[in-house]
Amino acid sequence: MARSSVTLTYITIMLLCICCLAPPAMAKKNLHLTYYGFETRAGPNTTLLLAAGAGQSNISEMGFGSIFVFDNVLRTGSTNTSKVVGHNRGTAVATSVEPIFTTGGLYMTADHIFGEGSKYNGSRLTVIGTVADAYPPYTLLIPGGLGYFFGCSGYASSNPVPATPPLYVFKWDFYLKCK
Ligand SMILES: *[C@@H]1O[C@H](CO)[C@@H](O)[C@H](O)[C@H]1NC(C)=O
Ligand SMILES: *[C@@H]1O[C@H](CO)[C@@H](O)[C@H](O)[C@H]1NC(C)=O
Ligand SMILES: *[C@@H]1O[C@H](CO)[C@@H](O)[C@H](O)[C@H]1NC(C)=O
Ligand SMILES: *[C@@H]1O[C@H](CO)[C@@H](O)[C@H](O)[C@H]1NC(C)=O
Repeated sequence: MARSSVTLTYITIMLLCICCLAPPAMAKKNLHLTYYGFETRAGPNTTLLLAAGAGQSNISEMGFGSIFVFDNVLRTGSTNTSKVVGHNRGTAVATSVEPIFTTGGLYMTADHIFGEGSKYNGSRLTVIGTVADAYPPYTLLIPGGLGYFFGCSGYASSNPVPATPPLYVFKWDFYLKCK
């Protein structure tokens, strides 16, 4: 009896040690996550607003100085029945005199905010970089994140996938190194 209780104590101590040696932070040293951003550019449920600058009265004249604000839906897949996991919220500015979609592009900063539907609920990833020039996939810097992603940084790749306008869908890949 004494011997089995010693064995039990030993096993308990071993289990405690294993748990202490493997904190959650070690499990996420390198992460590759994929999500899809859904942007609606017209209609009552538009998620992209031309907030200021050229093109406000005629969108085909948008260009240098135009400011967009967006609140896109983030899903696990590229179809509109895929699970919603959060939002991609931010601003994009035409900071280049070169035309958007050819050489200029839009300089954007955004937060990917994970909500109820995600295992990362309450966490966020920030991206900064140029999109909407002629050369997708667009590569953006991830300076950091909060919540689960605190201590992580890396880069994101954003690639348009086929969709029917006014819906535009972007595949987001996040490549993270976490401390
Ligand atoms: C806009 O969103 C509302 C609420 O989700 C929905 O009932 C409506 O059908 C949507 N309209 C369009 C044009 O998608
Ligand atoms: C919008 O701008 C384009 C390009 O300058 C022009 O061709 C078009 O006539 C304008 N449309 C309206 C309704 O003003
Ligand atoms: C979802 O996508 C399908 C196929 O592209 C389309 O027929 C349908 O109208 C979409 N539904 C909504 C709510 O946007
Ligand atoms: C998600 O996070 C919010 C606060 O950040 C919390 O109130 C809510 O209970 C969480 N939901 C789930 C399913 O974890």
